[in-house]
Amino acid sequence: MTAAIAPAARRFCFILSSARRNGNTETLARKAAEHLPPGATQHWLDLIDLPLPPFQDIRHGSAVYTQPQGNERVLFDATLGCTDLVLVVPLYWYSVPASAKLYLDYWSAWLRVPPGDFRQRMAGKTLWGVSVISDEDPRRADPLVGTLAITADYLKMPFGGVLLGYGNKPGEVLADAAALERARGFFRHAPRAAA
Ligand SMILES: Cc1cc2nc3c(=O)[nH]c(=O)nc-3n(C[C@H](O)[C@H](O)[C@H](O)COP(=O)(O)O)c2cc1C
Repeated sequence: MTAAIAPAARRFCFILSSARRNGNTETLARKAAEHLPPGATQHWLDLIDLPLPPFQDIRHGSAVYTQPQGNERVLFDATLGCTDLVLVVPLYWYSVPASAKLYLDYWSAWLRVPPGDFRQRMAGKTLWGVSVISDEDPRRADPLVGTLAITADYLKMPFGGVLLGYGNKPGEVLADAAALERARGFFRHAPRAAA
């Protein structure tokens, strides 16, 4: 008789990027995280606690990117250690907050850090987004959604989409009943397969 092999548990990593703590986007993400797939673990990091220095583009010089250290190392290990990466990104000027953009800029370095397997290891992880906006027109978040969707596509990551809510002052997203309803099923739906 062959023993059944249980599928490995999924590991969700949530990266918070609001410039304030306990904001709407974290609130919405935590609501969604109450409904992770069975057996899934969750790990939360806040970019407020893990500031990164300005990113340097040395791609075309003689220097090479070295192994990440300090806060960069924490983020690098968390990024590679999860099966599902959740960018918790309030809408700032129609895009992701600067801290989230800086974190993504570092991926350009990580693609080149020896042994150079970042791209290969990212493929197969699912990228998800959670966002809150203060505009009543959800299409205002299209640039943010596009940034995440195309980033997933570039790294051949399945894309889970963006859970979008409405709110401005902290806590206001709790009045967005439709967003809270979507949060219940958000992490249970199948992501769009990588292109
Ligand atoms: C720097 C900054 C830029 C913002 N830009 C937008 C924007 O372009 N469109 C929008 O609808 N709301 C914008 N907002 C409002 C936030 O998206 C809104 O307050 C949201 O609830 C903040 O999420 P948080 O509570 O998780 O920090 C902006 C807020 C800040 C601080």
